[in-house]
Amino acid sequence: MKVSLSILNANFLKLEESLKDYIDSCDYIHMDIMDGVFVPNISFGPDIVKEVSKITNRDFDTHLMIENPKDYIEAFVKANSKYITFHVEAKSDVMETINLIHSYNVKAGISIKPNTSVDDIKKYLPYVDMVLVMSVEPGFGGQSFMPNSIEKCKKLKELREEFNYNYLINIDGGINDKTISFVKDYVDIVVSGSYICKAKCPKDNLKLLQDIK
Ligand code: DX5
Ligand code: ZN
Repeated sequence: MKVSLSILNANFLKLEESLKDYIDSCDYIHMDIMDGVFVPNISFGPDIVKEVSKITNRDFDTHLMIENPKDYIEAFVKANSKYITFHVEAKSDVMETINLIHSYNVKAGISIKPNTSVDDIKKYLPYVDMVLVMSVEPGFGGQSFMPNSIEKCKKLKELREEFNYNYLINIDGGINDKTISFVKDYVDIVVSGSYICKAKCPKDNLKLLQDIK
């Protein structure tokens, strides 16, 4: 399993020191960007993302939980994102935002909150490189996995097979060594934050998830 590390719950006072032992063992680094409008929390912006890119050779999977993602695409392209994922529930026009991300030669992802269905995003699936299924209400790390995400991942995999689509399926929220088993057959990547960052031995927990077949 590919694991994308969310640094949202990492130790920001000692970010480099606390991540250095395992950051390069992750498959991607998941950057949770929150604006206090789309979600009831504020995290960090492109300058921090750029700084973290100096301490790792891993690709960034940037998750925009912001009301007007289109206005910030360029800033996150400059902050070395390989994938930029935004929410279809946000205000920006979805197709225009996908096209804008692609115009920078960056991969485009769309994300759905727990109350949004796969049917709601069917028309965008031919154009995206990633679908990020939220298995918690976006806004905070450390929440419990919501099982209604399982069916969505399954359906996305079936649609990808049926229509030969190219997106990766990524799940985000409450992933640990137990919840990963519910989705492992359907997803390509899992995002994991507190299960790794808050562990006594983050490297061991990371490996546990990566070893899931
Ligand atoms: C929630 C974020 C998630 C979250 C993951 O809004 O999008 O990426 O931080 O953290 P855990 O793994 O702790 O749920
Ligand atoms: Zn996220």
